Amino acid sequence: MWNERYAGDEYVYGTEPNAFLAKHTGMLSGPVLSLGEGEGRNAVFLASLGLNVHGVDGSEVGLAKALALAQSKAVKIQTEVADLGVFEPGENCYGSVVSISAHLPSAMRRRLYPLVERCLRIGGIILLEAYTEDQLARDTGGPKDPDMLMTRDKIEREFPNFEPILLRELEREVSEGKYHTGIASVIQFIGKKKT
Ligand SMILES: C[S@@+](CC[C@H](N)C(=O)[O-])C[C@H]1O[C@@H](n2cnc3c(N)ncnc32)[C@H](O)[C@@H]1O
Repeated sequence: MWNERYAGDEYVYGTEPNAFLAKHTGMLSGPVLSLGEGEGRNAVFLASLGLNVHGVDGSEVGLAKALALAQSKAVKIQTEVADLGVFEPGENCYGSVVSISAHLPSAMRRRLYPLVERCLRIGGIILLEAYTEDQLARDTGGPKDPDMLMTRDKIEREFPNFEPILLRELEREVSEGKYHTGIASVIQFIGKKKT
């Protein structure tokens, strides 16, 4: 499905970074692990700020476009084609983890998110934006399966060892490519790994 979506020349989520990420880059330190990086807009942006970025995605087509975008902007990113259902990040080696619209089934999150915690250094940051269950009533993007959509409760349950720096559900105007356009219900989370 994702390879098909990314098959054309167009960058379907655009080439500009996610707005929430762009606003909070000051909180991030490298290396950055980006989950579900897709066509590279966020990784390339972070690399342009001087951060080392490791973008992981199941779509080799998306990540090939990510590398092409990086080359066009004269920055370097590291990419890895991997299914997040089995991906094992290294331990204690990232300063930040970024998850932008990387909606996953709860069973997959249950396995992955403890590994996200483990891969971060103490004090490391997770920055996540996802559609909430309220987004089901809209046709402005996101999966139609409530299990893949996030809520405040899910964030609090699934990231128990993070101190929330920011956690809010809101409606915002999204203009991030043809699949993510219009008023959307999102959750935004920045958490700091506790000691
Ligand atoms: C909505 S796109 C967002 C892409 C990118 N984060 C952005 O903001 O432009 C979701 C991405 O998650 C990836 N993805 C979804 N499920 C995955 C899985 N199980 N393993 C690896 N990647 C996955 C897809 O390939 C896709 O690139």
